[in-house]
Amino acid sequence: MVPGLSMKKPAPASPQPSRDCPVCPRLAAFRESIRAREPDWHNAPVPSFGGPDARLLVVGLAPGLRGANRTGRPFTGDWAGDLLFATLLKFGFAKGDYQERPDDGLALQDCMITNAVRCVPPENKPTPAEIRDCRIFLEPTIETNRKLIALVALGRIAHDSVVRALGQKLSSVPFGHGAQHTIMQANGKAIRLFDSYHCSRYNTNTGVLTTQMFEDVFRSVRTFVDESA
Ligand code: URA
Repeated sequence: MVPGLSMKKPAPASPQPSRDCPVCPRLAAFRESIRAREPDWHNAPVPSFGGPDARLLVVGLAPGLRGANRTGRPFTGDWAGDLLFATLLKFGFAKGDYQERPDDGLALQDCMITNAVRCVPPENKPTPAEIRDCRIFLEPTIETNRKLIALVALGRIAHDSVVRALGQKLSSVPFGHGAQHTIMQANGKAIRLFDSYHCSRYNTNTGVLTTQMFEDVFRSVRTFVDESA
């Protein structure tokens, strides 16, 4: 390698991977195997949901096999979507009815939802390399969203990927449910990162995350966004 040249991959112009994105060979092979088995499912990187001029970006982990990977909309049809969309509706970040279908008419308001990893991973577990490599899409999702002032990271993996996407050290921005961090972006604008435990079936069934705890995070986000108006 030429001294001084970084091995970091250049950020792509698009924040959205192509339908046959080859970046993660294991995920591409998994996707192909599901396409063969379930030809009517989405079975491709799941695009972000919501307007590109939103002030809030919610970052999940990765599409669920029979949820977002099937329907093609983040969290739609996934267990985690029930609490997430109910909470977004309650705090005015969505309007309409969530009916677990991409054509249910649900609209996000001043909010976008994306995932740290865009393709469904086997057993819901992306590898560290997949999380790193898919960041080439998370970075421009954050950078091209010019009105963004707030981020919600659902779980530690989303938190770590967001912190790295913003060029920060994990040690200086530790994950904690209910934690808030103010991070200066490269463009000189501050962004507020809100952490929550992931609203997964495991976390909600075991009481690691209650509805109250989740709503408390979004209540703080609502107040922050309103006071920043
Ligand atoms: N579905 C998603 O799209 N993301 C998650 O993090 C979980 C389920």
